[in-house]
Amino acid sequence: MSDKVVLAYSGGLDTSVAIKWLKEKYKLDVVALTIDVGNEREFSAIQQKALKVGAVKALVIDAKELFVKYFVFPALQANALYEGQYPLATALSRPLMAKLLVDVAREEGASAVAHGCTGKGNDQVRFDVSVNALAPDLKIIAPAREWGMTREETIAYAQKHDIPIPITASSPYSIDENLWGKSIECGVLEDPWAEPPDDVFTWTKSPDQAPDKPQYVEIGFEKGIPVTIDGQEMNGVTLIQHLNELAGKHGVGRIDHLENRLVGIKSREIYEAPAATVLLQAHQALEAMTLSKSQVRFKQKVAGEYADLIYNGLWFSQLNRDLSAYILSSQRYVTGAVRLKLFKGNSTIVGRKSPHSLYRLSLATYDKGDQFDQSASVGFIHLWGLPVKTQAQVQLLGDEEGPLSIMGPKEPEEG
Ligand code: ARG
Repeated sequence: MSDKVVLAYSGGLDTSVAIKWLKEKYKLDVVALTIDVGNEREFSAIQQKALKVGAVKALVIDAKELFVKYFVFPALQANALYEGQYPLATALSRPLMAKLLVDVAREEGASAVAHGCTGKGNDQVRFDVSVNALAPDLKIIAPAREWGMTREETIAYAQKHDIPIPITASSPYSIDENLWGKSIECGVLEDPWAEPPDDVFTWTKSPDQAPDKPQYVEIGFEKGIPVTIDGQEMNGVTLIQHLNELAGKHGVGRIDHLENRLVGIKSREIYEAPAATVLLQAHQALEAMTLSKSQVRFKQKVAGEYADLIYNGLWFSQLNRDLSAYILSSQRYVTGAVRLKLFKGNSTIVGRKSPHSLYRLSLATYDKGDQFDQSASVGFIHLWGLPVKTQAQVQLLGDEEGPLSIMGPKEPEEG
């Protein structure tokens, strides 16, 4: 009996070719593992295909709930956006896939795991670092990083070995999808000046074709987790699916990001992430109401660190545990509801409320009922401005170039 490898199998061209290639090159029996993270595929057809191409076993794991609970919602609570733009859909799914690959490798007594990533992207890093953290004894094989075949050669290899070539192989784009978003690259998108053509987008309507009437939606949160839509309770998976549909219909969630990959490449990425866009926006609106100014400011720094950690494949690090503890703790009072208006590609916050709101009408109002003591501001300003006043007297007012030199160098004299 030959040794086994567990392959993360998508049903696409590369991973189908990989089944044959692993057998040929490494003499390994391939157990194909397909992980459902909400990419709405025909999973039984994928399973059949794996077996047909030569896998000794084909497994499908529904990981949607795990994905939402342990990856997506923590990222939402953190407000994690890589470089302020990318909600990290692909990046979040990789450590979960790595964990499931390792689990199945153990069950199957396999000595290796494999994935379809090339040597140019972030995903190889995320898979390899995660597998190495969880199972340092397992060998990791990345066929597409090793085989050195071009796209055409891969197709030729498939034809030669009677591997069905999926219609998606003719698509000019490289696509990865899960509940939290769709990532699209390659083809004309490689020209950063070219506007993405319409056929790139499948989750979102073009804003100019979106309904002419705005749609309001109310999202209820409990401790930073979205739990209701328009008052109706929903589990996380359903809630995200529902919002993807609703916001996508109004053209919300298209992102065009010129992104810094971990491996040093700048790449142009298009994302569709309707639910993520709306939820991140709503969550931050609720935090603005329930967290203090210093909590919000500090949390923004944590969000940046957390997004980098996720993007850079460091999920299984103790830093994750430490940051997560802070993020979770920060969500104690992030309970309430946010109302948004979806219209022609925009989602706008139009209302928010919370039983733990720090907003005080009696302090904010300019109308009657004002309880803010305006006379107290005089003493406050006196002390607040004291260091500026002191420094100005000693240094600024006596400046030879004149006190306004602080506003920048003088224009050169004409003539
Ligand atoms: N650039 C994104 C990331 O690193 C998305 C990669 C998606 N992969 C793909 N085959 N389109 O997370």
